[in-house]
Amino acid sequence: MEEINLKHRIFYFTGTGNSLMVAKAITDALGDADVIPIAHAHSNDYDEPHEILGIVFPVYWGGLPLKVLEFIRSLKGHSASYIFAVVTHAGEPEFALAQLRAELQKIGLDLSAGFPLRMPSNYIIDYDAPSESGIQRILCNAANAIEEIVVTLRNRTIHLPSSQLSSYSWPSRSYKQFIERVNGSDEKFWVDENCTECETCVRICPVQNIRMKEGRPEWLHGCQQCLACINWCPESAIQFGSGTESRGRYTNPSVTMEDMEP
Ligand SMILES: Cc1cc2nc3c(=O)[nH]c(=O)nc-3n(C[C@H](O)[C@H](O)[C@H](O)COP(=O)(O)O)c2cc1C
Ligand code: SF4
Ligand code: SF4
Repeated sequence: MEEINLKHRIFYFTGTGNSLMVAKAITDALGDADVIPIAHAHSNDYDEPHEILGIVFPVYWGGLPLKVLEFIRSLKGHSASYIFAVVTHAGEPEFALAQLRAELQKIGLDLSAGFPLRMPSNYIIDYDAPSESGIQRILCNAANAIEEIVVTLRNRTIHLPSSQLSSYSWPSRSYKQFIERVNGSDEKFWVDENCTECETCVRICPVQNIRMKEGRPEWLHGCQQCLACINWCPESAIQFGSGTESRGRYTNPSVTMEDMEP
């Protein structure tokens, strides 16, 4: 099997570590690759032409997180010989890859390979956190899927599954609403009496949307709804609306706080 000689550059967006774990696993397997958080990417991070560009991110409401959408649009004027994407999801990747491909085509680029990858759900706003056994089962399947993805990338095979790329009914109404309202969605966060003022939430937020005020976190209305703050708080002291007090929290078991901090 022929190895790729060009440098790989893999960008990721993550709230609870799934997409970071995947980006790192691919980076480790390919070698000679940089892994860069989209939230801190600068245009000179992807200035070099003819390199392999990877984008790894979670699906939000069937489509791209706002930050990822903005990042894709910022690639205008850049080039890459092979662009691949992995969309991590909790069972419904919906139109994320189709949307990504359409956004790339708008700026004269195209997707060479796209992979939906099932991971544990972090959406504790509406659902219970996954069980330990469920997490292990999903991560075990994901590890096998990542091995196959790496083979495809090593060979630079074109991999565009038609089931993921048809442009049926998108962007959906719920996705459009999500994007329009996401920045202000942090109004529903609140903190209970278990807060220890540790400031983990301030450090973990990928877009610096939290500051401490009088010993309590304050949200600044530039939210991406990545759910990092609520899931990483060591005291489970952050709540969202009325449904999260009785729920567990989820972060990817092989990702640490230190890994999350760029
Ligand atoms: C705001 C939000 C919306 C989500 N929407 C979907 C969705 O439409 N379909 C799905 O399968 N998973 C959805 N999820 C689950 C995540 O995509 C999934 O757990 C992902 O792997 C989390 O990645 P991360 O750990 O890198 O942040 C959503 C999660 C969040 C926070
Ligand atoms: S991470 Fe949790 S305990 Fe720490 S300051 Fe934030 S809300 Fe309080
Ligand atoms: S405030 Fe919380 S949910 Fe919003 S972007 Fe920051 S970490 Fe993510």
